[in-house]
Formats: sequence, structure tokens, C-alpha cells
Amino acid sequence: MHPIVNHRPNHLRNAPPYSRGDQRFRLLEATLKRHQYQQDALIEILHTAQALFGYLKDDVLLYIAHQLKLPLSHVYGVATFYHFFTLHPQGVHTCVVCMGTACYVKGAAALLETVEQQVNIHPEQTTADGQLTLQTARCLGACGIAPAIVLDDVVEGYQTVEGVRRKVEEWLGEVGRRE
Ligand code: FES
Repeated sequence: MHPIVNHRPNHLRNAPPYSRGDQRFRLLEATLKRHQYQQDALIEILHTAQALFGYLKDDVLLYIAHQLKLPLSHVYGVATFYHFFTLHPQGVHTCVVCMGTACYVKGAAALLETVEQQVNIHPEQTTADGQLTLQTARCLGACGIAPAIVLDDVVEGYQTVEGVRRKVEEWLGEVGRRE
């Protein structure tokens, strides 16, 4: 048994094997080679992997851990530590609710609850139809316009429950119109 198996976090125990025919793995391998399989290039390699796959899939983390001869727990730990990495597929739209102190005292929890109830998902999840990813942040650096959220990469301040509800309804309406 390969040593990395002993370090697999529980939810990765059944990760599927990567597909050798997948062009993206060949590009990832070229990146690993370019970095000469150096373990300290892990963050750059994860960046490339996320750009290729859209998010850090289980089999991608396994592949990187194996090729760099690092424990999977280490690779997984780095991927979850940094905010710019995501382990989940992203939806067509993204809503990030800031839960930092300034936003929290101005009602961020109610904003989050509104979206959760509207689309029936929790933070770091994507709706089953792939339309919306909900995330939270610790501080967006926009405390002066709290409560702030990010809607499709645009920071919006002074948010209200009604405003957020309307925006999500708009997105849901787009789906309805396309169907
Ligand atoms: S706490 Fe929300 S932007 Fe700083």
C-alpha cells in the first residue's frame, strides 16, 4: 500500500482514480515537471490545478500529493487553509457573504440566512442545478460599507435582506427564462 493512503482524510477515502486520458492531467504533469517535483512549489502547483479544473477535485489532490511525495493530509491542509483555493465546483453565480465583525453587527447573519433559505444550501455549497455557489468571508476589507457581500465578483455594500433576496430571485428568474 502506498504511504499516502495512511494520511487520507476520511472524505477522500473513496476518491476516484484520476483519468489518464484527461488532457488536464497531462498539463498538470507538465507543471509538476517544470517545478522539478519540488515540494515547496506546492502552492503554485495548486494554483495551476485550480485554473485547469475550476476547483481542487479529490483526485487532483491525490495526484499532486503522490507526484510530490507529500502526505495527502499536508496537501489537503494547504488547499483548505488558503481562501483562494476551493474544493468544490463553482456555480454560474457566486454570492459571498462577509461574516466579519463589522458586517456581522450590521446584520450579515440575516443576509446569509436569507440566501440559505432561498436556495436551500449552506456556505461552501453549490445548488444542485449548478446556478449558485454560496460562500462566506472573514473580512472583505470593505468594513466601511458593511454589511458587504460579493455578487459575481462585484463588492456591494450596505446590503439589506430585501436587496439580497431580489438579486437571488433575479438569478433564479434567469434560469426560469432559459428553460
Ligand atoms: S467585516 Fe465585512 S468587510 Fe470587513
